[in-house]
Amino acid sequence: MKFFIDTANLQEIREAQDLGVLDGVTTNPSLMAKEGISGDEQVKAHYKAICDSVDNNVSAEVIGTNYESMIEEGEILAQIDNKIVVKIPMIKDGVKAIKYLSNRGIRVNCTLIFTAGQALLAAKAGASYVSPFMGRLDDIASDGVALIQQIVHIYENYGFTTEVLAASIRHTMHLIQCAEVGADVATCPYKVIMGLLNHPLTDKGLAKFLEDHQKAQQAAHVAG
Ligand code: E4P
Repeated sequence: MKFFIDTANLQEIREAQDLGVLDGVTTNPSLMAKEGISGDEQVKAHYKAICDSVDNNVSAEVIGTNYESMIEEGEILAQIDNKIVVKIPMIKDGVKAIKYLSNRGIRVNCTLIFTAGQALLAAKAGASYVSPFMGRLDDIASDGVALIQQIVHIYENYGFTTEVLAASIRHTMHLIQCAEVGADVATCPYKVIMGLLNHPLTDKGLAKFLEDHQKAQQAAHVAG
């Protein structure tokens, strides 16, 4: 299972990379805006800085919503670095743009997936990744993990090579649920990745080991 971090914050990206378990990054226009990144040149420079911080797989989203603007933007984004994966929304022109870009060897992540039908269409068009937004489905009392499972099953039926990239992950249990149903990738906020570390019995157990070791050292010192 691949771990991507879902942020445009360079410090978080570098910290996750330092942990040694990061496989990529996803951004979106909201995450870029949150970091105060705007304007073509600043956006390109920021994507380049992200690419320089990780090994591969940096999703960079187009802003245009018609076919011509999406393929033009996609080609410009792909030229920034060969780690770039162009992120295209699941709309009619987006499907055509996925086909165009993937035919030219540019990797595409189809975003804003909320149904299995949309995921099927994106795979048919040649997307490298599809991003079902599980948290946003859970928010409206729908079942996000069930959608991930359904897409994984459909892709297995037909041998699609498109990878299921579970997105809009809100907490650590979402990540575990994605792993259980076979998502290829999970993109998570920094705190969700770090949340995997935590268990109070680990902390308690370690404190006890260190305490016992200390006591044994003292006893040996006194005896010696
Ligand atoms: C995916 O690539 C999106 O950037 C992201 O996961 C959306 O998450 P949100 O629903 O928390 O905004």
